[in-house]
Amino acid sequence: MNDKTPVEASKWLPPGTFDGQRVVVTGGGTGLGLEISRGFADLGASVAILSRSPEHHTELLDEARLRGWNVHSFACDVREHEAVARAAEEATRALGGVDILVNNAAGNFVCPTERLSANAWRAVLGIVLDGTFYCSRDFGKVMIAAGGGQIFNVVATYAWTGMPGVVHSASAKAGVLTMTKTLAAEWARFGIRANAIAPGPFESAGSKSNLWPENDLEDVVRELVPLGRFATTSEVAAQCLWVMSPASVYMTGECIVLDGGISLPKTMWEPGARVKREKE
Ligand code: HXC
Ligand code: NAP
Repeated sequence: MNDKTPVEASKWLPPGTFDGQRVVVTGGGTGLGLEISRGFADLGASVAILSRSPEHHTELLDEARLRGWNVHSFACDVREHEAVARAAEEATRALGGVDILVNNAAGNFVCPTERLSANAWRAVLGIVLDGTFYCSRDFGKVMIAAGGGQIFNVVATYAWTGMPGVVHSASAKAGVLTMTKTLAAEWARFGIRANAIAPGPFESAGSKSNLWPENDLEDVVRELVPLGRFATTSEVAAQCLWVMSPASVYMTGECIVLDGGISLPKTMWEPGARVKREKE
């Protein structure tokens, strides 16, 4: 990579699309969050990433130095409301304001509901639901004071379908989806839009180790996708950027599904089969 190598996710929008925008991305140092942050920075935004582990921030910070991007990072566990309040203050100061918040941080693992401990439930609900609320509230106040902004949440289609094995994540994402619609309605009067994306399976360090650690398990999931493959993080990030770009200024309270068709109904018949008519 050099300072001229194109950033995949940003190539679909005009250069400078986010010039002057100040963006905060939770979990912005790895996986999808990293691709969203890179895309924003490449399209002109100043970016702050928040997550627990500073070592997850070095890849983006190194790239930012090379390419001349304005990127800041803050160690913050979004489950802790005081830490979020502190990070909101520090990030707002570093960026000179905040126009867009992306709630991307998440925790997940597969566990049958009857074996899920109270701590395990709290760990995931804390990151996904509490964290999204704390960040939305604290960065939302900054946007309200400034006269507008955007909140963008990352959910999953099991927010409305449910999914065996991930009752914690599905319940938390359902809450985040409802939070998205609630904030879109409640804060439109402040000039704030709120939208979400529900990606299907994509490869990330977190999903690989927590959801499909063995290759054959990954193959089983891949076979369920009508388009026949996982999305790339760049493809998902590109869709996120489009929803947050000026191309989508009239969209609010919406959740875009980008899942290669995996959440569509499966046929009850053999593909190509048809029921014979009586007279045939
Ligand atoms: C059962 C588990 C478990 C597992 C942890 N726990 N992993 N229980 N099965 N695989 C339990 C622990 O035993 C403990 O309960 C409680 O959860 C908290 O565990 P800790 O390790 O102390 O938590 P913590 O260090 O805070 O880590 C949080 C985490 C971890 C969520 C458990 O996995 C994490 O940091 N994840 C971040 C990355 C990630 O998950 N990315 C995936 C994103 S994919 P006890 O009772 O023992 O104290 C995604 C959507 C995919 O979100 C959608 C696909 C379509
Ligand atoms: P990932 O790389 O594991 O990303 C999760 C991020 O969240 C990490 O950067 C992690 O950073 C951060 N994080 C976790 N706990 C945190 C906490 N308590 N406080 C602050 N930050 C925390 O996973 P990903 O696959 O890219 O997931 C990104 C988003 O897409 C998530 O919302 C996920 O639910 C969603 N999604 C993923 C898939 C998939 O197939 N991968 C499908 C649908 C939806 P630290 O460890 O440094 O804290």
